[in-house]
Amino acid sequence: MDPISNPYSPGAGTPPPYLAGRDELQDAFATMIARVGVGNPVQPLVLAGLRGVGKTVLLLRWREIALKSGWATAHVEARADADLRGQLGDAIVDLLRQVSRQYRNRERVERLQRVAVSFLRATGATISRGGLAFGVDPEPGVADSGSLETDLTELLVELGHAAKDEGSGAVVLIDELQDAGSDRLVGVVGACHRVNQERLPVLIVGAGLPTVGKVLSDAKSYAERLFDLRRVGPLDREAQNQAIAEPAQELGVRYEPGALEALEVLAGGYPFFIQTHAKFVWDVAVESPITDRDVAVAAPRAGDQLTRSFFSPRYDRATPAERRYMHAMASRGDDAAPTAEVASALRRRPSDVSVQRDGLLNKGLVYAPERGLVAFTVPHMAGFLRTLPTHEFG
Ligand SMILES: Nc1ncnc2c1ncn2[C@@H]1O[C@H](COP(=O)(O)OP(=O)(O)O)[C@@H](O)[C@H]1O
Ligand SMILES: [Mg+2]
Repeated sequence: MDPISNPYSPGAGTPPPYLAGRDELQDAFATMIARVGVGNPVQPLVLAGLRGVGKTVLLLRWREIALKSGWATAHVEARADADLRGQLGDAIVDLLRQVSRQYRNRERVERLQRVAVSFLRATGATISRGGLAFGVDPEPGVADSGSLETDLTELLVELGHAAKDEGSGAVVLIDELQDAGSDRLVGVVGACHRVNQERLPVLIVGAGLPTVGKVLSDAKSYAERLFDLRRVGPLDREAQNQAIAEPAQELGVRYEPGALEALEVLAGGYPFFIQTHAKFVWDVAVESPITDRDVAVAAPRAGDQLTRSFFSPRYDRATPAERRYMHAMASRGDDAAPTAEVASALRRRPSDVSVQRDGLLNKGLVYAPERGLVAFTVPHMAGFLRTLPTHEFG
């Protein structure tokens, strides 16, 4: 098929041509903001799942839903090497720009801008930007204590009252929550709790790796009751088929059932794999309908691409000792492995290999689904490792 019109979209946070299998999570978000809009209590949604499963694109979809409802939005991707406070400051400047254009009560808007400038001033890095952002002076004594929890609460409460008066709302979306750093999360969760208690139309929602629930409840023990944690998993068969067939159908191209079945085996419902395989299949196929033969021809090319773009870069980030640890994990199969068994596969005591495990945890390559267990953050990683020469293991 014509590569120029190839509809598939492998990538990180690249919106798919057809967002399959996530209706419930879209509806849940729409219901949540509608409830908040009428002053009803909600549990803000947080998405948890492996890499490439579609959390970021779902957050982006939530953002669109919010914008369509006339809500203002701020979007942040937490990073281990950045200060979330500064990132929130930047995102909230954007949000207030939307609000400043939209809200009718100019006095309110100006006060909100002053409070935002206070918030920004308390982050050393953005001192000048804060003033530049709106050309107003800070509001002394509000949102400038230096404690993120206090300051963010004051800023969001101010925003919430303004939004409520305007019959509108605001949502802050934080991606990669597990990388935010525990002291910053304490602030975010605390602020979220406060605006929630006041039933103001301001929400903080987010997404992260499967451990995100634990990360949040380590920050504040009430987090598990505060948030509605939703697991984002692989797509079921029907949704995977839709993800592949719908975009093609738009372009007048069909798949034979056998082709879709072959793709089920290859992608296993994982959205990133679906997009990658479908993209190669499209380029290989000469005519509609696309057959299982096309899938078979494309599979090794898609596999190479996945190796290059998804698996190898992660593997390369690990030290040789960490790689041996991953090979030992993979030798046990695809599921979470008890750390004690990984250690014994390496013929070591668990304490002797905890450095490697911690290194891999810090690099985001593995996570601990439960105490004493370790699992890959990337689907099919064990299979990839088993295709490599294993001389490095043991
Ligand atoms: N529901 C879906 N249907 C089809 N493709 C999807 C879906 N969700 C995600 N994708 C695709 O999967 C890939 C990974 O999505 P992304 O949101 O970056 O995952 P994550 O944030 O969980 O790592 C992207 O190429 C995206 O287009
Ligand atoms: Mg993501």
